[in-house]
Amino acid sequence: MPTSNAKKSRILTGIQPSGDMQLGNYLGAVKHWVMNQDIQTNFIPVVDLHSITVKQDPEELSRNTLSLVAMLIACGVDPEKSTLFIQSHISAHAVLSWILNCTTPVGWLERMIQYKEKSHNQERVSTGLLTYPILMAADILIYDADEVPVGEDQKQHVELTRDIAERFNNLYGETFVLPKAVVPKVGARVMGLDNPSLKMSKSYAHIRGHAISMLDDPKEIDRSIKRAVTDSFNEICFSSDKERAGVNNLLGIYQVITGKTFTEVENDFNDARGYGDLKSRVSEVVISEIEPIQKRYHELINNSPELESLIQKGDDLAKQYADPKLDVVLGKVGLHRNGHSGV
Ligand code: AMP
Ligand code: TRP
Repeated sequence: MPTSNAKKSRILTGIQPSGDMQLGNYLGAVKHWVMNQDIQTNFIPVVDLHSITVKQDPEELSRNTLSLVAMLIACGVDPEKSTLFIQSHISAHAVLSWILNCTTPVGWLERMIQYKEKSHNQERVSTGLLTYPILMAADILIYDADEVPVGEDQKQHVELTRDIAERFNNLYGETFVLPKAVVPKVGARVMGLDNPSLKMSKSYAHIRGHAISMLDDPKEIDRSIKRAVTDSFNEICFSSDKERAGVNNLLGIYQVITGKTFTEVENDFNDARGYGDLKSRVSEVVISEIEPIQKRYHELINNSPELESLIQKGDDLAKQYADPKLDVVLGKVGLHRNGHSGV
């Protein structure tokens, strides 16, 4: 724990408004931001500009953006403690992204695993899908963030952000802080309930029994957990064995929610009679975690003046950091600013 006068780390992490938030987002990311918001400075953009790298229905995107802000607040992101805002409202992100586009070699982007996965077998791929990590770098660098808490899948993008920052610093002089990725030890990857070799993802939300949406009815949550794929070993313990990934995933979910150690979790199931019992208890903790979140979410989404004013507050706070930083960058690159004489 830092002492009261120690410098707080500055954390930035983005989340896409594409579809309902699912349990993997909550346990792998959001819960950690909430737990740490007293000891660190949090910046949380809802990254709507990232979402449009793949085609979106405009009305749906707009609805999803508001819904995500409401959900994040319901999950415990406190607008008094964290800067929660909408990425596209802060134009400095897009401007910085363009400048970094001009200093980043294409080869660095083509190497990105997510790009290769998303563009695989696609006839036409938008340029945005390729340059997406540069926008992410702009999100991070414009706030001088020290740490970027992400799931395993985003680590490579944060490493690229360091390279982009370093290159800019070499070209134009010390400008950006080099951020590092922080991957939470437990719950880093919540796997699909139907297929524990695949990360739980909104992209497969249409497959029944794959994901738990934060807005699922408790009965539906219980059904999905009861249907989760397990194995025939009938042993309730953590394991890195591929064949036992289903049970490992259920225990991981239980562990992150309860905050217990591996041993404590296994001890909790000493008296369990088989996987049926395991599933019932996991379902119970998941539902009691999610129910109060859903209640607060519905209050907020039905009170748009409150929600809009919280968004405005976040946007204003974000601008206070982003606009002066962009000014510095523009000056270094030599882009003329009225009233500024340059570097
Ligand atoms: P996304 O929904 O892809 O924008 O992800 C938002 C955040 O949640 C990122 O930090 C992801 O790495 C994290 N995340 C998404 N799905 C999972 C999952 N199944 N397990 C752990 N973290 C996840
Ligand atoms: N690319 C991230 C994802 O798909 C979302 C994101 C955008 C992000 N900007 C960011 C994450 C900045 C961390 C920091 O999950």
